[in-house]
Amino acid sequence: MSEYTFAEYLKTNSHATHDTVDNLVSSCKPFDTVENYTKFLQLQAVFHKIVDPIYKDAELNKHIPNLASLARHDAVLKDLSDLNAEPVDLDVALPNPDGSEALGWLYCAEGSNLGAAFLFKDVQNKLNFDAEHGASHLAPHADGRGKHWREFISYLNQLSNNQEVREEALRGALNAFHLYKILVRKIFAIA
Ligand code: HEM
Repeated sequence: MSEYTFAEYLKTNSHATHDTVDNLVSSCKPFDTVENYTKFLQLQAVFHKIVDPIYKDAELNKHIPNLASLARHDAVLKDLSDLNAEPVDLDVALPNPDGSEALGWLYCAEGSNLGAAFLFKDVQNKLNFDAEHGASHLAPHADGRGKHWREFISYLNQLSNNQEVREEALRGALNAFHLYKILVRKIFAIA
């Protein structure tokens, strides 16, 4: 076991991959037009559909209080419907992560709301969508993004007490980032 907490271990070993996702998404200019934002929402809908069962997993909810209430799939669907748009089938095989891998997917999905501060600002400034209309899934947690994140990872950190769990979770997080990039390329038609 390293001296890192579980969350630090995941961050240290996935931040370079995160940055490739950040760069790829940013290059698609998701907030420049409503058309691009619609595609971004359709992509988020696929990603949050995959992680939805993890947020709602009964066993995990015993360890992370109110985890189910943090799921954002329904909010993404509402945002799409605010734009009079529909989810799409991207013709990509969707995984069904379980075991310790699912913890990595959960880290990835919940962490994406921490970084979403920037995206939320852009969508409000450039497109006039907000927490009530069109961008509810990017809104901060009621406790504030930073405070909520610290609380979330304090629970997450208690779920790993061995290296095997850490490695499997890291595999899950890297798979989540990797799949996200596949979805971005599909929906924005990037070669
Ligand atoms: C344009 C797109 C993105 C931008 C600009 C962005 C930006 C950021 C920023 C600035 C942070 C650090 C926030 C802080 O420490 O206060 C962050 C954290 C994070 N982001 Fe993103 N992000 C993007 C997309 C994504 C996506 C698509 C995912 C997941 C699929 C993701 C997952 C995460 C995770 C897991 C963290 C937490 C890292 C940690 O502290 O352990 N991000 N992001």
